[in-house]
Amino acid sequence: MNSIIITGGAGFIGSHVVRLFVNKYPEYKIINLDKLTYAGNLANLKDIEDRPNYKFVRMDICDFEGVLKLMQDEHVDGIIHLAAESHVDRSIKDPFTFAQTNVMGTLSLLQAAKLYWESLPEGYEGKRFYHISTDEVYGALAMTHPEGIEPPFTTKASSGKHHLAYGEKFFTEDLKYQPHSPYSAAKASSDHFVRAFHDTYGLPTVVTNCSNNYGPYQFPEKLIPLFINNIRHRKPLPVYGKGENVRDWLYVEDHARAIDLIFHEGKIAETYNIGGFNEWKNIDIIHVLINTVDRILGRPEGADLDLITYVTDRAGHDLRYAIDSSKLQRELGWEPSLQFEEGIEKTVRWYLDNQAWMDNVTSGDYQRYYEDMYAKR
Ligand code: NAD
Ligand code: DAU
Repeated sequence: MNSIIITGGAGFIGSHVVRLFVNKYPEYKIINLDKLTYAGNLANLKDIEDRPNYKFVRMDICDFEGVLKLMQDEHVDGIIHLAAESHVDRSIKDPFTFAQTNVMGTLSLLQAAKLYWESLPEGYEGKRFYHISTDEVYGALAMTHPEGIEPPFTTKASSGKHHLAYGEKFFTEDLKYQPHSPYSAAKASSDHFVRAFHDTYGLPTVVTNCSNNYGPYQFPEKLIPLFINNIRHRKPLPVYGKGENVRDWLYVEDHARAIDLIFHEGKIAETYNIGGFNEWKNIDIIHVLINTVDRILGRPEGADLDLITYVTDRAGHDLRYAIDSSKLQRELGWEPSLQFEEGIEKTVRWYLDNQAWMDNVTSGDYQRYYEDMYAKR
């Protein structure tokens, strides 16, 4: 495979995937197909934008004709699909955009891939459609222990590793889908379409469902970058509900490494869960963020604890996510490379060192810049 479209490559996770592929596979042609919504930012890819094996195409994945033509022109044999509307709070306010991009956009890519690949003499041979999805499709887990022990407690994954957990159940690949937010409902629907295209037409698909990512270049509407920036500027930290919800955090480069591995070695028609057995209550993460920012900026310990502000809970707020990634570890040998302490230190330092990136994104300057740039063509 050497001509690959990565959709959503100007976003948070997509930019890490594009960077990894462009650096690691000089023999491939990497085409970053992105609409550049508020979440897409070409500054995320400044370091690789001039590479000969990289090309950016501004396009909406819902533009079926455009996508089909691009696939034909570029002789595309692989698609890694990340483009999506990704923020739960936005989906509560504007569910239509989420259905449009996440469902109809995915369908448009699937149909274009099917038509183009079926038109080739070799058909689906050597082709792959890789759909990136989320653990949120599985719904929410309870925080219970069979013997009534207060969480968190130490437990053993089926891989044999010990880790802390807030409940005895985990998201495994065979679980039934129970999405709660318009975002996760739209992602669930897109996952179903991908599997339907395999089962009905034989399209060579693979799906992965990953837990919460963190790291550089994440849009500061998401918990970790938003709170790092607010702590830095001593702005209130809006904690939803009691801050008791649990999320399972993975460093974004570890997700990108998993995507590389699964794209090349994952089995067609399979689903793999991706996660690092790293559950945290929101309020505990927030304490880690405050302590880390304050230490790095030389502020007295705990100086910014009073920024914590409890606000109205998110509607339909899922209580706990926890991924069981044993299948991926067992079958393809993937493991996260970073401990959380290391990952969060790197992440906080990156946002503090890249205030210009943050200012640009929060001011909306970069969006106006790209609107102007494309308007002139
Ligand atoms: P993001 O919001 O940072 O980036 C999304 C990208 O998609 C942006 O560059 C945006 O411009 C582009 N895009 C949006 N609509 C488009 C359209 N109609 N056509 C073309 N491009 C469009 O998202 P992210 O956090 O990097 O997530 C990427 C993918 O990974 C999503 O599919 C998401 O569901 C999934 N995912 C995210 C996480 C996470 O923690 N962030 C975890 C698991 C799975
Ligand atoms: O689990 C994977 C998902 O993780 C991805 O599919 C989504 O694209 C991604 O946005 C993320 O969803 P969450 O809703 O878990 O992420 P978010 O950063 O929005 O919130 C993390 C937790 O923090 C969640 O319990 C809500 C809470 N929160 C969030 C914000 C933005 C707050 O308490 N206050 C806030 O201001």
